[in-house]
Amino acid sequence: TKNWVLMVTAQCPTNIAVIKYWGKRDESLILPINDSISVTLDPQHLCTTTTAAVSPTFDTDKMWLNGKEISLSSGRFQSCLREIRSRANDVEDQEKGICIKKQDWEKLHVHIASFNNFPTAAGLASSAAGFACLVYSLSKLMNVKEEQGKLSAIARQGSGSACRSLFGGFVKWVMGNEANGNDSLAVQLASETHWDDLVIIIAVVSSHQKETSSTTGMRESVVTSPLLHYRSKEVVPKRIVEMEKAIKTRDFALFARLTCADSNQFHATCLDTSPPIFYMNDTSHRIISYMEKWNQFEGTPQVAYTFDAGPNAVLIAPNRKAASLLLQRLLFYFPPPSDTELSSFVIGDKTIVK
Ligand code: PMV
Repeated sequence: TKNWVLMVTAQCPTNIAVIKYWGKRDESLILPINDSISVTLDPQHLCTTTTAAVSPTFDTDKMWLNGKEISLSSGRFQSCLREIRSRANDVEDQEKGICIKKQDWEKLHVHIASFNNFPTAAGLASSAAGFACLVYSLSKLMNVKEEQGKLSAIARQGSGSACRSLFGGFVKWVMGNEANGNDSLAVQLASETHWDDLVIIIAVVSSHQKETSSTTGMRESVVTSPLLHYRSKEVVPKRIVEMEKAIKTRDFALFARLTCADSNQFHATCLDTSPPIFYMNDTSHRIISYMEKWNQFEGTPQVAYTFDAGPNAVLIAPNRKAASLLLQRLLFYFPPPSDTELSSFVIGDKTIVK
């Protein structure tokens, strides 16, 4: 019979960089100009769920994002599909009487349905979870036998930050130096249980789509910002070493100092870009001032903040007690949503992926 459908569903959380990736040295392979480090979030709150299906009745590859069909024609999707297909293996499902041979995958088409449980393209790294989940679900559907690091290098070709979502806990994206990008992949620095006191709160300042995509922003920064090149050569390599130490020893003060400094330098490179890019807004700036004052008052960091390509604040507290104090203060100083500052909060523990 030709009427069968075989499908796989996977879930993948997003990740938040604490040492940022900004700038590519190769646009089509998505190779970065510096290493980066991130923490993978709890899949309950910020994750993508993707179902990948194959059937002989499908006559083209198709994809839906949050229920709306999207085009797969971009190089990013094509790279991920091509790389996974070329590694496909035999698949058998005796119950359904399905037997797909390795060579059949070149002719078969897939349908992919993906849902985000958080706002798409609002600086909450939706593409990270999205491409990681796409690659992971396709690799399971096609019985790809590569290890996770290799899959991360494929997800990287969809969206750079996606490579880091293939692992839980703390993850480093090693920039690599091979021209073909084979060594530009993610490695896990510490598992999701290593530092499980940390609590992450995301203050959603705005869930509107950002004005400048990270692709365009990076391209403009690489060409016009002298600060970006100084940062990638002189600042990030040292910060990576320090951050690995902070994570290994669970040194929250060091972790917080590095995280805040790196977020601020990333946004400074955006301002240093011509024309300047503004990802943060007044509310973001007020959150930073407030957190800085609080940390200073206490004498030692109580909270780390970081902002990606959007105005939403990612706040990291060392434990539940500090997190509940933080939340009380946020609600008091930034009351939702009447005089509307923050529209919602997402609270998540740092944990694993699948
Ligand atoms: O992978 P992209 O193109 O979504 O870029 C991500 C860029 C930042 O989120 C700002 C930083 C990072 O390392 O995730």
